[in-house]
Amino acid sequence: MIRFRVAATSNPNTPHLPPQKTMLLKILFISVVSAACVNSLAFNPATARRSVARFTDAPVASAVVDAALEAAILAPNHFLSEPWRFYIPGEKTMKALNELNPEKTKMFEKVPNWLIVTLKSEQELHSKLWLEDLSAVSCATQNFMTSLAIDGVGSKWMTGALGSPPAAILETVKAGEGEELVAAVWFGMPEKGLEGTKAPPRKLGVEGCLTRLD
Ligand SMILES: Cc1cc2nc3c(=O)[nH]c(=O)nc-3n(C[C@H](O)[C@H](O)[C@H](O)COP(=O)(O)O)c2cc1C
Repeated sequence: MIRFRVAATSNPNTPHLPPQKTMLLKILFISVVSAACVNSLAFNPATARRSVARFTDAPVASAVVDAALEAAILAPNHFLSEPWRFYIPGEKTMKALNELNPEKTKMFEKVPNWLIVTLKSEQELHSKLWLEDLSAVSCATQNFMTSLAIDGVGSKWMTGALGSPPAAILETVKAGEGEELVAAVWFGMPEKGLEGTKAPPRKLGVEGCLTRLD
């Protein structure tokens, strides 16, 4: 948040400036305020994330990944059930993931990092509280990706396009008993800057899915 304080000109200790300098200072002040306002509208952390599937070989700093994981676990979570589990594959597991579907191996080998996110819920399948746990894991996944985006790291939430059954992915990462696959997040330094990556247009838009009530 930006706060501005304007000094009272009636204070006898305030040095008096010639009118031209006062005018210049006013113009400078207005420019700085306008730039700050435009900038805060242009950069909205909530919309910084875009799906990215092409990455460079540049490594992602481990501090950036750690910060994203810290953001993930601060997702809204009813009863603080912490129903998320995360898996970061090392070299051996990455190779195993890449080879799950031979048709996709070439494409997968270009992905520098994966985060597998699972749901670990104590609740009855599809019950209200189970859905709440699933919602929380989705929020955690979104937090992870948004935090990466704020640090300039691209990511993509993958499921169906992996072309492998969720059970095979869970087995490969040695997920715990009863866990369900929520996301395989690909991430890395984007080939194109995130600022230049456009969101696919939403057909409904806000007005198409919002009902304003009396
Ligand atoms: C649950 C879920 C599963 C997804 N699975 C895939 C997938 O299998 N393949 C894919 O290309 N994109 C997948 N995506 C990413 C969407 O295609 C992407 O979010 C959408 O095109 C909107 O683009 P944006 O993320 O840049 O806003 C998935 C997204 C979600 C939330």
